[in-house]
Amino acid sequence: MGEFDAFKKVEVEGWQKIQGEKYHNAAKVVAPLAIPHLLDLAPAFPGAKVMVLACGPGYGVTEAAECGADPVGVDISEPMLGYARVLFPEHRFEWGDAEQLNYQDASFDTVICSFGVLHFAYPQKVFSEVRRVLKPGGRFAFSVWGTPDRNPFFGLILQAVMKHGSLNVSLPQGPDMFLFANHENSKTILEKSGFTSVQTRDVEVSVKGDESDEDVFVRNANDATVRTRLLLEAQSEPAREAIFEELRDVVRNGVRNGEGTMEMPFCMVCIGGQKPVK
Ligand SMILES: C[S@@+](CC[C@H](N)C(=O)[O-])C[C@H]1O[C@@H](n2cnc3c(N)ncnc32)[C@H](O)[C@@H]1O
Repeated sequence: MGEFDAFKKVEVEGWQKIQGEKYHNAAKVVAPLAIPHLLDLAPAFPGAKVMVLACGPGYGVTEAAECGADPVGVDISEPMLGYARVLFPEHRFEWGDAEQLNYQDASFDTVICSFGVLHFAYPQKVFSEVRRVLKPGGRFAFSVWGTPDRNPFFGLILQAVMKHGSLNVSLPQGPDMFLFANHENSKTILEKSGFTSVQTRDVEVSVKGDESDEDVFVRNANDATVRTRLLLEAQSEPAREAIFEELRDVVRNGVRNGEGTMEMPFCMVCIGGQKPVK
């Protein structure tokens, strides 16, 4: 038994319960913005074999194909894969566990993984698998969310939970969700996993909000996250209602830009490295 086996179980079960279409509706405005940065750090050149790991509804597969590469999307959730096949019927999607990839050694030129690493119980195991399936000289890039102080979506939910409920609820312990948001940690762990030429970058984006959509936080937490959804579900009924009301208030009055309209900043951290040629 590993330290985070229980966490892995709830993550994997959690992703089986999330409908691909609902995830896509929640994630489509922001998550795909990481893809050009990942493909800059780990290029999908013409003819390259590219794995889009933890592909969810398939973001990254079309972009890799447009570069002339031969991509495959890999994910552990059948509902996600099912919806990826609906969205992108011309592309290949296969079931797989990132910790135990069902591909031969040295069979890919490039692996990208957008917002998957923070859901893995054993990221180092995944890095070692990615290194195994990469050809010598092949490149790997992944993205994670920056810390909550730079991501109001997470920060405001956590603040509302601390104000009306508790962060001390009984949920399986996993790796720190923001471990890789720290550039030094990412660099050290990737280098220990056998990658060289590690680069890290912050990508800041800002998305216009719909002020009539008061439940946007709650719905996105339910449809696009596992840990945050479980944290909200674990609160008492009155605490949860107070948290939801606080988050509705944020939409009514909160995160506004200079023109008085709602705008939500997001910070993504992108990390890339190379499998040594020898
Ligand atoms: C936040 S979603 C990211 C989806 C997409 N890449 C994006 O950028 O929106 C995390 C994805 O990781 C997948 N996942 C979680 N654990 C996994 C594992 N061990 N192996 C493969 N995929 C996994 C989930 O099924 C889910 O589709």
